[in-house]
Amino acid sequence: MYKLARTLWPGFFLALVLLAPLTSCYQQSEIKIGFLVKAPEETWFQKEWDFAEQASKDMGFRLIKLGVADGLSVLSAIDNLAAQNAQGFVICSPDVKLGSAIVARAAYFGMKVIAVDDQLLDSDGSILRTIPYIGISAREIGISAAAIAWTEFLARDWKLEDTAAIVITYNQLETARARMAGAISYLDAVGIPPESILDSPQKTTNVAGGHSAANFAITKNPQVKHWIVLGLNDETVLGGVQALETRGFTGKDVIGVGINGMTLAVTELSTKPDSGFFGSILLDAKKHGYDSTAMLYRWIRDGIEPEMDTRTSGQAITRENYMEVLTNHGLLDLIP
Ligand code: GLA
Repeated sequence: MYKLARTLWPGFFLALVLLAPLTSCYQQSEIKIGFLVKAPEETWFQKEWDFAEQASKDMGFRLIKLGVADGLSVLSAIDNLAAQNAQGFVICSPDVKLGSAIVARAAYFGMKVIAVDDQLLDSDGSILRTIPYIGISAREIGISAAAIAWTEFLARDWKLEDTAAIVITYNQLETARARMAGAISYLDAVGIPPESILDSPQKTTNVAGGHSAANFAITKNPQVKHWIVLGLNDETVLGGVQALETRGFTGKDVIGVGINGMTLAVTELSTKPDSGFFGSILLDAKKHGYDSTAMLYRWIRDGIEPEMDTRTSGQAITRENYMEVLTNHGLLDLIP
């Protein structure tokens, strides 16, 4: 046994010496990409992750998904990624004002960054344009949401003097500001009087935030009989619709049109015929999740720099067409 070991040892040692650089080279060359999202409970962000996961399988990188609810978790998530030797990350930050801190920390660790959904801000409060961004064509999509509501308003024969539009705004976020600026300009252009377009700021971009913003507008306008509700996402609009529901307004008197087209919207459309949630704009989660990580991967691996500003489009969904649209997008799993 001892003799055998003595004969084999030099060969074993040689193999170790030869293979060692190969294994460490393999370890170094495995590309790891982080994907940080501000609201992992929203189906929109879960879908982005699903599509990023698909890209990681197709292209052979490792995806590290992290939910980051506040600024502190963003910074520790970046440290965590660095500790795992990630070479870059895609981020939708819960606080866009952290832009320069995020970019500086990433640069310190030699990581590349792409912003998705929400544009980061520079230290002077302007939009940070030094890193690539993938977001929606916000103004156009806001206009589309308003157009759906207006078309339905005309179909219902409501009177303009009995109707008001609650436009729930969140202007500290550029994409949210642009979405509702588009919606307001449309409502204004079709002839809704300015005093009936109720700009209602929300504190948070979730259902609760939409609910309390709308509540305020409803209380101040007891004369209104019919309502249009618009906001930056489905959560916000559903909050507004629910605030109206608690005051006794049903789908007959409410036209709410959201943005995202994910589970919240699809649940209203498919299971609640009386809900005032009338439709949504289905956004392109594949472009946001798959394309962002694929771009980052090629940037890290081949040095191919991504486009600095990529905008995606959306598609209207209502009770009439949601089945067909979701089928075409391979998103039938959104139906509860
Ligand atoms: C923002 C919103 C999300 C979603 C994305 C799409 O982050 O908060 O709900 O609409 O934009 O880019």
